[in-house]
Amino acid sequence: MAEQFSGLQVDQISVGYGKALVLEKLSLTVTSGSVVAVVGPNGAGKSTLVRAISGSIRARSGEIRYNGQIISGLAPYRVARKGVLQVPETRDIFSGMTVWENLMVAFDNLNVESARQEAFNEIYDLFPILAKRHQDIAGNLSGGQQQMLAIARALLGRPKLLMLDEPSLGLASLIIKEIYGTLNRLREKGLTVLLVEQNAKMAINFADHSVVLSNGKIVMQGTRDELLSDEALAHHYLGVRTG
Ligand SMILES: Nc1ncnc2c1ncn2[C@@H]1O[C@H](COP(=O)(O)OP(=O)(O)OP(=O)(O)O)[C@@H](O)[C@H]1O
Ligand SMILES: [Mg+2]
Repeated sequence: MAEQFSGLQVDQISVGYGKALVLEKLSLTVTSGSVVAVVGPNGAGKSTLVRAISGSIRARSGEIRYNGQIISGLAPYRVARKGVLQVPETRDIFSGMTVWENLMVAFDNLNVESARQEAFNEIYDLFPILAKRHQDIAGNLSGGQQQMLAIARALLGRPKLLMLDEPSLGLASLIIKEIYGTLNRLREKGLTVLLVEQNAKMAINFADHSVVLSNGKIVMQGTRDELLSDEALAHHYLGVRTG
């Protein structure tokens, strides 16, 4: 048997909707313990990539492996059981339920009181505002608080690899800073992260390695220094000025 790789390997996947192909033979690696960002404009295929990894849509060809095991073709709940979880672009919280109920739904497969208390304490320590608002209806939370709740719900699934699809979308800069601060704490605890963002500069600065997606293809990749050092390329692909 080949030596087992620790992390995610996306190997030449092609993914689409109906007749249209969005990703064509795309490959990407996320080594355990690292943060990889996927950036790119509207419609580049970022969410499609996350959906393919989580099993929400099926790759037409190619293979996705996690810790050496093939996960492409598995149902989303089985991918999640392997520790690969997503916070989707749509956040998918239950807006009619309270914060606490939303967390309970995410927890329900580990129905041990003591374990639950411990997990909830961890969540409330990461997101103190959720503790404060635990009785409130989720739909009444601010956008930033809803994003925190969405992340909290994913964390209750005990991810090893967490995929976040545009966690900063539509949020004010102060709350974005807070969310990235929390992501940083999670990364320090060893969580592996695949971060999808339209806000390229922020994501590239945060990540160990970044991939720029355009029209379903990787057009650039590298560390923050590599990507931001070439001003012309950074401006062309990322719309960011580095100077
Ligand atoms: N459910 C769907 N059915 C058909 N086409 C879709 C569907 N979802 C996305 N697409 C198309 O696939 C392409 C890639 O979309 P995707 O949502 O992956 O892009 P994205 O990079 O996440 O964009 P954004 O930054 O706007 O979220 C787009 O052309 C989009 O119109
Ligand atoms: Mg998207």
